[in-house]
Amino acid sequence: MIVQQSLLILWDVLKTIFVSIGLIFTEIKRLFFYKRKDVRGKLALVTGGANGLGRGICLRLAELGCRIAIADINLKAAEKTCEEIRGKGYKAKAYKIDVTNADEITKLRDDVFNDLGTVDILINNAGLMSNKNLEETSENIEAMLKVNILGVILNLRTEKWRKKIKTTCVCPYYIKTREDVIDFLNPKFPALEMEDAANETVEGILREDRVVTIPRHQMALCKFLNIFPLSVQEAVRDRILKEYEFNNPNCKLNFDF
Ligand SMILES: NC(=O)c1ccc[n+]([C@@H]2O[C@H](COP(=O)([O-])OP(=O)(O)OC[C@H]3O[C@@H](n4cnc5c(N)ncnc54)[C@H](O)[C@@H]3O)[C@@H](O)[C@H]2O)c1
Repeated sequence: MIVQQSLLILWDVLKTIFVSIGLIFTEIKRLFFYKRKDVRGKLALVTGGANGLGRGICLRLAELGCRIAIADINLKAAEKTCEEIRGKGYKAKAYKIDVTNADEITKLRDDVFNDLGTVDILINNAGLMSNKNLEETSENIEAMLKVNILGVILNLRTEKWRKKIKTTCVCPYYIKTREDVIDFLNPKFPALEMEDAANETVEGILREDRVVTIPRHQMALCKFLNIFPLSVQEAVRDRILKEYEFNNPNCKLNFDF
């Protein structure tokens, strides 16, 4: 019995190794010979597309020939971004939506379907950021969790998905969309320009990357660091990637170095 089980496990291990070798070659091939997806005529629904990174993503996707639906809690700003897109000769429509409200999301999907058709690309961008971390009020923490997590789940749940969906998870460094947060955190490396972050995000979607770090070399750095013991990773983080300037009078957080 034990011999039989061991052989089965060994067989599974061998199968996994063979599959992994194939996947590694596929990924290497994709890295060098990737074909950008053609999104002309596709419908992109961008939550939080009125401002910041979302606005940049809308503009970039429109330039690539997408029709744009902006869903934002700030309808006035969403209309303004739509006008900007239409002014460049592309198609865009704004919708007022709170991504934490399931009923509003269901209604949004029906409205978008009736006005523009089936959504091809969903960008879950609406989000709240804090510049206080643990000193944030309970209400704000709850709001952040709702918008940043629940909002994404509700949006995914409501979509009338086709058989095969591809996901791209975007992990950006600080972007100059939130001057208040950047001023407060005072990051050691300069924050990203919104256009660069938006272009990299869209590029990742076109390449069908599963994870996009912006800037891109950050991923290589993180993966490289992961091979070292945690204490070494922490030392590098604290001394090289340190994000908090302790001479910042607004910064009350106390980190033990
Ligand atoms: N700015 C950065 O440095 C940075 C870094 C990493 C990740 N991000 C993430 O990128 C995304 C965009 O960030 P940003 O800097 O462009 O933010 P932003 O504040 O400039 O824009 C966020 C947009 O989301 C909308 N929104 C907020 N709550 C909403 C709700 N409940 N329903 C619908 N719309 C809502 C806002 O009206 C706004 O248009 C966020 O998810 C943020 O967490 C930003």
